[in-house]
Amino acid sequence: MKEIKIETILQVFENVNELPQHIVTLMQKAVEARENAYAPYSKFHVGVAIRLDNNQIITGSNQENASYPSGLCAERTAIYYAGSQFPNAKILQMAISAGSKKNQTKTPIPPCGACRQAIAEYEIKQESPIEIYFMGETGKVAKSKSLANLLPLVFDKGVL
Ligand code: THU
Repeated sequence: MKEIKIETILQVFENVNELPQHIVTLMQKAVEARENAYAPYSKFHVGVAIRLDNNQIITGSNQENASYPSGLCAERTAIYYAGSQFPNAKILQMAISAGSKKNQTKTPIPPCGACRQAIAEYEIKQESPIEIYFMGETGKVAKSKSLANLLPLVFDKGVL
């Protein structure tokens, strides 16, 4: 038997203004997209903005459903739209802002496991890293230089 230790690296910024202007702009779009979340059940609103290498910015928000599992997270709403509208464009960055209507969210909220798996598919497909920036409503912003840093032991096409 041997143990395997898995480590990952993130950068954490004190606030969004420490980031370069093009990321500030992208995060602002994510914050705006949060306003379009349809989250009457959880009251947890998530907004996402994706920058493509064709200069398009795609936004998305979580969309809930009375049949709870039929709803979809913001990250997958946005990335599936990007993939379906611009199948040949590469995704450069994704910015995520999450906030609860019940209390103020001040810590960075990472994408859920299912969304990491979905983003990983596109990163592997395009053979170049997708930068992920995530935050709450205010406060610190976490950056992952690649989705791979957020999903060790990814399940990918190599095993099929
Ligand atoms: N949600 C997202 O949009 N993204 C995530 O990565 C985690 C969760 C949404 C799904 C649901 O509408 C609400 O947040 C509470 O789970």
